Formats: sequence, C-alpha cells, structure tokens
Amino acid sequence: VVEAYYENFRPQYHFSPEAHWMNDPNGLVYNDGTYHLYYQFYPDSTVWGPMHWGHATSKDLKKWHNEPVVLKPDSLGYIFSGSAVVDHNNTSGFGTSQNPPLVAMFTYHDPVAAAQKTTNYQYQGIAYSIDNGQTFTKYANNPVVPNSDNLVDFRDPKVFWHEASQKWVLLLVGGDRAMIYNSDNLKEWTYLSDFGQNTGAHGGVWECPDLFPLTIEETGETKWVLLISINPGAPNGGSGTQYFIGEFDGKTFKTSQTEEKWIDLGRDNYAGITYNNLPYEERIFIGWMSNWDYGQVTPTEKWRSAMTLPRKLELNKNKAYFLTNKPVETLIENLQTDTLEIQEENGIYMFSHTELNQSKVAFDLPKPLNDFNIKLSNTDGEQLLISYDSEKQEYRLDRSKSGDITFSDSFALPIMKAPAKFKKGESADFSIYIDASSVEFFGDGGANALTAQFFPSKPYTEFSIETKDKPTTITLTPIPSIWKEN
Ligand code: FRU
Repeated sequence: VVEAYYENFRPQYHFSPEAHWMNDPNGLVYNDGTYHLYYQFYPDSTVWGPMHWGHATSKDLKKWHNEPVVLKPDSLGYIFSGSAVVDHNNTSGFGTSQNPPLVAMFTYHDPVAAAQKTTNYQYQGIAYSIDNGQTFTKYANNPVVPNSDNLVDFRDPKVFWHEASQKWVLLLVGGDRAMIYNSDNLKEWTYLSDFGQNTGAHGGVWECPDLFPLTIEETGETKWVLLISINPGAPNGGSGTQYFIGEFDGKTFKTSQTEEKWIDLGRDNYAGITYNNLPYEERIFIGWMSNWDYGQVTPTEKWRSAMTLPRKLELNKNKAYFLTNKPVETLIENLQTDTLEIQEENGIYMFSHTELNQSKVAFDLPKPLNDFNIKLSNTDGEQLLISYDSEKQEYRLDRSKSGDITFSDSFALPIMKAPAKFKKGESADFSIYIDASSVEFFGDGGANALTAQFFPSKPYTEFSIETKDKPTTITLTPIPSIWKEN
C-alpha cells in the first residue's frame, strides 16, 4: 500500500488522487482490457486551478493505478471536462484501422478572456492517443466546435457512436440547454438541435451531459436517458445530477417526463458520466463525490475528493420510467466491508447483516415497516444518521454531528431528504457502503440514493439500527486504514 493511503479520511476502496485537487470524471472509456478514468485535476494545489486531465487505469474497476497527466493547459486555455471514444474505423484518420485511435474531446476554457468578461471563452478541442490512452496529442486545428453564438457557458462535450444513424453524436451544454451535433470524422461537427426549454430543473448552469440507451430487462423496451448535472439548484443544495427519460432519433431528444428526477439526492455525487465502448451491455457511471458548495475546503490535506463507486444504471418502469443505480456487482463481491439489507420476504421485512465470511444475521420487523434510524458512530460520540420516516415516505441523512463540520457553513445542513418507496418483492432492499469519509446509501433497490461525505475524528466502528420494537447494534470491522492518533 502506498504511504499516502494511510492518511486520515483517505478512501480505501474509492478512487482518490494520490495528491492534489480533483473534480469531474472525464473521458470514461474502455479499450483493450483497460478502463480509463481521466479526471479534472490541478497538480499544483488542493484547490481548483488551471485544469489538466489526470489519469488512472483499472482492469476491474476495483484497483486503480495512477498514471501521468495526459492533457495540460496551452495557449487556447485550461482543459475542462469532456469524454473519449475508441475510433474503431479510424474515421478521424489519427490512427490506422489496425491500431484505432482513442479520441478525446474536451472544453478549452480561456482564463484571460473569461477574466475580461469576453463572453467567447469556452470552445471544444480534440486530442488523440495511439498508445491506448497513455499519452495524447492535441489536434493542430483546434477548436473543432467554436463558440459561434458567444455563449457564456459552452462546455463538457460527450461524444458517442450512434449506431442507427452511423454517425458520431456530440452533446454539450450551452447555458441551461443541451446542444446536439453529429459528425462523420470527429473533426467537423454539424449542429442539430437543443433540449431543455420548459423541462427539468433550471436553478443553475447545466453541466456534464450524457446520453445513452437503456433497455428494461423484463420487457425489452428501450428508452434514451439524458443526464444533466446542475450547479447550483439540486434539491438538497448546491450541485446535483438530474435525468430525463425519452427518445432520441440521432438528431433530437424528446421526453414527456414532467417531474424532476435525480440520480442521487445526496449532496456528494456530481458531474457523473458513463463509460463508452464497454464490451458488454451495461451502463457504468462514476460521479465526483463532492459538491461545489464546499468541495474546495473539506479537511483533507494532501488530496481533495474522491469518486463514487462505479455504479450500474438500470431502467425500470412502474407507473413511470425511473433509473436505479447500484455499485457494480464485481466490485462488491469481495469488498472488505459490511453490507446491510432490508428485504421483504413473505410479508415480513427483514434486516440482514452480511459480513464477509460470516453467516447472515437477520431479524424481522413488524409490517408495515416502522420508522427506523441507522446510526454510524465512533467512540468520540460522532454520528451520522440515516432514517426512514414511514409517514412522510422519506429517507433522511443527517451529518450535522458526523465529525468536523466547521470548514463550511453549508456542509452540515440541510438534512438531506429523498423519497422512500419500498418496492414489493425480491428487489426490495437497501444497501449502505461506508468508506473512511463517505457513505453511499441505496434505497429501494437503488431507485433512491443518498451519497455523502463526512469527516470524523476517528473511524466509525459502530452501526446500530433502532426501530420502535427491535434495536440492534452491530460492530463494524474498522476499515483497514491507520488513522493518526490525536
Ligand atoms: C463541473 C465543471 C464543468 C467544467 C469543470 C471545470 O464540475 O464546472 O462544467 O468543465 O467543472 O473544472
């Protein structure tokens, strides 16, 4: 284990950079046995600054290897968020058909023009790699998508291959609209349409779009899903990611969805996007586990922030369409952690506690399910509460006594809230993933998620559930990091 990974608060099974500032995941792409995770990175400080693309690789989405920075700022500007594709047919001409290039598209942000309040300071550039994403060469004729309408915010390109129209499709955000383009060669782009007027949440700038098809497993019905991050304007404050379910014909995205829907109602899951070019039919999502409200002042010293666990997104339908998200199965198989589930079997709700290599501990709860409180705590009396309110049909996550909260006025409160709706049947469950400084709660089979950071003075070692009738306490195996004794 690398020395740096023994620090206080250091995530043990979530990706965090070895040192310095990180924000959005970028260029999530799979190629030739390797999952690439590029990310917004400032290698000179633990706060945001001139953006680079940092890089990590993985063979299994569990273990990550830190790699050298691939993109640095140049005379056109900082390197903001974007995506990457494998250009299998070498449509760009940057590689050969034997050795297809990886092509990354990112936003150039010109800090000088931005400071002078010249509106035209964000535009899109591309770069290519012919060594499976280890190094990139910037295209000589950048930018490939100029900001011809002089939009103040014009960024975060997501490119993917659209099979039906046999075109590359590009989605980016302009203010609070998603803009759609297509191309034959990744260099010349044609504007097609925009999306967003009178739909969705508009409390802030739209950022980091993504668009992909998903098929409902049981019925075989396929819909297109549009992800839009928004900052500020999330229901629990600051940054959050909404989604729309609809149709995409290669040119326009349409939806009849009227209510707002959110990937995760916790305050620490932002700017998430999904993998391109996976060799299997799944949608895997990674988000930045922080929030612009306080992301730059969290109390870590050498590095700042981590990514969410890689999550599988699935499409479901009851009255309306909705997404579920859950950690990818291979990731949790051997995870050295404790998983708690609630399940309805034969009309009885059971809590079960599964610890690696230990038998299941289950006990029933009266039906209908009463309110419960899940408490994570340490020997200093610091605690984080996740509760279920049956009357309001609501989950709540309260981190106001979770440890250090003094670094920002907007960290402790508000208490995060998410709708709660137990689904009947086998998939009625919730799971909680706890790392050194984060909790990911997946309610209702992943339909209602809450992800949050916390910064305790000592690791949490106790996990208790209280209901009116049956309290129980479970002692957690402390996560295998060594914390400095204060
Ligand atoms: C989202 C974001 C993006 C931008 C990047 C800059 O968190 O604001 O819109 O490209 O961060 O680092």
